Amino acid sequence: MSTSSIGQPDTHSYRTHTCGELGIDDIGSKVTLKGWVDTRRDLGGVIFIDLRDRYGLTQIVLSPQDDEGALHIAEALRSEWVISVEGSVTRRSDETINTKLATGEIEVRVDDLIVLNRADAIPFPVSTHEEKAQHVNEDLRLKYRYLDLRRPQMRDNIVLRSELYQSVRRFFHAESFLEIETPVLMKSTPEGARDFLVPSRVHPGKFFALPQSPQTYKQILMVAGMDRYFQITKCFRDEDLRADRQPEFTQIDVEMTFPTEELIYETFDRLIAQIWRDLKGYELPLPVVRLTYADAVRRFGSDKPDLRFGLEIQDATEAFTGSGFRVFDNVIETGGKILAIVVPGEGDRGRGVMDRLDKDIVRKQIGAGGLVYFKLPSDGGPTHSSVKAEVLPAEVVDRAAAAIGAKTGDLVLILAGEAPKVHLQMGDLRLHVARDLELIGDGPDGPWQFAWITDFPLLEWDEGSGRFHAMHHPFTSPHPEDMHLMATDPGAVRARAYDITLNGNEIGGGSIRIHNPEIQRQMFAALGIDEEEAQQRFGFLLDAFRFGAPPHGGIAFGLDRIVMLLAGAKSLRDVIAFPKTQSAQETMVVSPDVVDAHQLRDLHIAVTAPKED
Ligand code: AMO
Repeated sequence: MSTSSIGQPDTHSYRTHTCGELGIDDIGSKVTLKGWVDTRRDLGGVIFIDLRDRYGLTQIVLSPQDDEGALHIAEALRSEWVISVEGSVTRRSDETINTKLATGEIEVRVDDLIVLNRADAIPFPVSTHEEKAQHVNEDLRLKYRYLDLRRPQMRDNIVLRSELYQSVRRFFHAESFLEIETPVLMKSTPEGARDFLVPSRVHPGKFFALPQSPQTYKQILMVAGMDRYFQITKCFRDEDLRADRQPEFTQIDVEMTFPTEELIYETFDRLIAQIWRDLKGYELPLPVVRLTYADAVRRFGSDKPDLRFGLEIQDATEAFTGSGFRVFDNVIETGGKILAIVVPGEGDRGRGVMDRLDKDIVRKQIGAGGLVYFKLPSDGGPTHSSVKAEVLPAEVVDRAAAAIGAKTGDLVLILAGEAPKVHLQMGDLRLHVARDLELIGDGPDGPWQFAWITDFPLLEWDEGSGRFHAMHHPFTSPHPEDMHLMATDPGAVRARAYDITLNGNEIGGGSIRIHNPEIQRQMFAALGIDEEEAQQRFGFLLDAFRFGAPPHGGIAFGLDRIVMLLAGAKSLRDVIAFPKTQSAQETMVVSPDVVDAHQLRDLHIAVTAPKED
């Protein structure tokens, strides 16, 4: 046995196995393992080390009979030191078998131990054993991301993400899609967020914009005859961050020549099915449900409806017409809607709970005028309405409750207001109630409720700027049946645009594009973009369209969101190796950061009002 010591060069061979693979078939083998000290326990002179690497944990044992030098080193080991071990695989005694661990039937008795590197005291535990108990502050995790990524949960997320890339690439390769890279230093793209700009040194006063998506390039690739394109690509959008939004995120970007909506839905149903089969072993029933935008908003109050539970929104406007209740009458007279959801089995809720729902959720959080509710007690007693019988007669209450199918023991929640706003408010209330009652089974094991949302409006009115914006982007084709409305009622025109949603999250969106210059001109006109602006911003694309542009269309999936949902994570930050914080910084490398004055000079930039942090 060689002398074991601290800080030696690695004189052992390359590892013979990872820490996740030894089992009873290896008993008696001589092995070399390397990894991090996950935990060290000293049980009356016998030292147990859990050695960890990306693949798992293996128990290492040293006892007083072993080499003194090795024992001495083992006693000094601390968490996260990096060691190399030579030893032989032995069977664990029956009482010490750990069935939860892949390597739980064996342990490695040490012949020689080398410390390859020490670690300072770590700022938070990363041990496999502490995983559940730990609730580490996220700022700390992001600052020491290399430690955070050692935690099994984070490692699993990164492994899952890598598996996803492979599954996606296999799919597209098998379907004759070409993987083509597009520039990152480019020109402003039309996705509607603020751009990240990169100043040009060579061209003073000019800037590249980082792509919000490769939208224009992929369309040009179709004009170039590439037929089927995909790319797993970074996109950059300077927008307010949320748990499901990062300024720098990854898309699975796709474009095809001569597509129909049907071809898109069918092709990407199969992509999603393959991903879930490969990564979850789950056989997704196809086809994925399809819902028009209008139906999604009407029935679920959202263009990304969560279909894991019922609580469908019902239109009770007719049931309340002529009720004599002034609030409802006013809403109905001005063309508004009275919407209801029936919450089964909640008819005995106390007054206090309902008051809080009204005040804290409906008014404060959702921003609706107020909640009206009926309780149909489980003992079959008379329906209790939150509005006094002198104001809203009991017969109207009973008639309305019956009309929307409320039964003994149910609770009816009602909002009144102008459409479509009241639909969206009801959608928020529906989600709140489902979360409150834990109707949503969240987690890495599903359920998985996908939906295609089709026939989006082409344009949306923006109060702030007093003009229409493209709901998707300006190259999205209007629905041929609605073309006649382009000049007269542009807000009513439907688009050949679709999203795909999963469990209430938008995981992808795309459209069939405009390839006809005249329709593109009409679209720009509806958006208030004159010819000069169109030429300046998108001239290259319009030029390309003059040279035989085939009909084309596509979609982009939010890869980070897909991984987040597959992993059962709550934030994109948990599935991106080096994400930005909520305030758009990366605290580990400290970016963004100041730069040298000469760099600014080279770029012809003067910082006029540096912000003091
Ligand atoms: P869209 O803007 O809908 O479409 O983006 C496609 C998908 O990308 C994801 N996504 C994001 N993920 C994380 N952080 C963000 N900030 C973020 N923004 C979007 C969403 C979304 O569904 N060029 C078009 C696609 C096309 O028409 O083909 C586009 O980018 O999951």
